[in-house]
Amino acid sequence: MRLKTVLIIIAALPVVLLALFFLYSYLLSPPGSGRDLSREIGVPFPALMAHRGASGLAPEETRPAYLLARELGADYLEADIQRTKDGVLIALHDDDLSRTTNIAEVFPDRAKDSVDTFTYAELQKLDAGSWFNKTHPQWARPSFVGVKILTLAELIDIADGGYHKPGLYLETKSPERFPGIEKQIVDLLTARGWLGKQTALEAEESSLEETPMDAPDRVRVREMPGRVIVQSFSADSLEIFRELAPEVPRVFLFGQYTVEEMGSFESVLEQALAVDSHAGPSGYMAWPWYTSKIHSRGMIVHYYTINQSWQMWLINQFGADGIFTDRIDIALDYFGRLEEPDLEQYFQKIDY
Ligand code: G3P
Ligand code: CA
Repeated sequence: MRLKTVLIIIAALPVVLLALFFLYSYLLSPPGSGRDLSREIGVPFPALMAHRGASGLAPEETRPAYLLARELGADYLEADIQRTKDGVLIALHDDDLSRTTNIAEVFPDRAKDSVDTFTYAELQKLDAGSWFNKTHPQWARPSFVGVKILTLAELIDIADGGYHKPGLYLETKSPERFPGIEKQIVDLLTARGWLGKQTALEAEESSLEETPMDAPDRVRVREMPGRVIVQSFSADSLEIFRELAPEVPRVFLFGQYTVEEMGSFESVLEQALAVDSHAGPSGYMAWPWYTSKIHSRGMIVHYYTINQSWQMWLINQFGADGIFTDRIDIALDYFGRLEEPDLEQYFQKIDY
């Protein structure tokens, strides 16, 4: 064989292999393969979750982050729910307050204490915004200084309050530290009309496809059966939710380490199925062979945390049903749902 031919074959080989890989992936788990599964449980497809709010653009799990996510048009506001010493449900990711507040200045002796050792009044003394300005100078805003830790009740107000009506995607974070938190969450959502009785709007009909033609881009997840999704790395917590509110979709979160701990990917899916839950794997596991296995068990799959548009493209190609993202603006833009590309206009709208 002539040298030129050999070189052409060597150059073409990666392209051919890549094409074969995408063909294999398409046959295994094509885009849209979980659409019907999502529809069956009243969850939008693809579902775009504002992870800790629009947390790439504003301080995570605070009022501006959730207001911005709602105004941008997120399907769900995602939040990690914990509880104060005096029983108030709040949105906070970490076990302690050292990363996302100025606790080292306000309570220097308690800087590494877990959040459940603080009362709500104590937490309200903290600035939950300034850290963001230091960590993300390109998105820093004077109005973020002094923002407060948000309660779940306040998050519900935000979800209820705008033109877009997003759903709530609530995680019980370290639930073993908060006995009874599942009931408290269900009780609050029920008292606020999010659970327990059919709303007038739900009675009408409930899918994005049936959104009135005069407002086709309006988010209406609040009116769908899947308006609340609960999620946890703890199967025990999901089991409690199943007993309390079986109609609420549940998502079992896991990562590669879960697979290693449990021995196999199949064991993880068995665990999720045992508590009648769907799947929320790490984005590092968003391969079509995993997505396909999840769908074949009748479960939908939402991957976390996907922040780059090329990742969104890839994961969409591999058949995902939704993503959690810190950059809900990028996700909405990728899926052709961002109404206004100038983010400054959204900040003006929310007064931050
Ligand atoms: O809830 C999905 C994702 O948020 C899980 O990871 O650590 O960001 O809560 P984490
Ligand atoms: Ca979370």
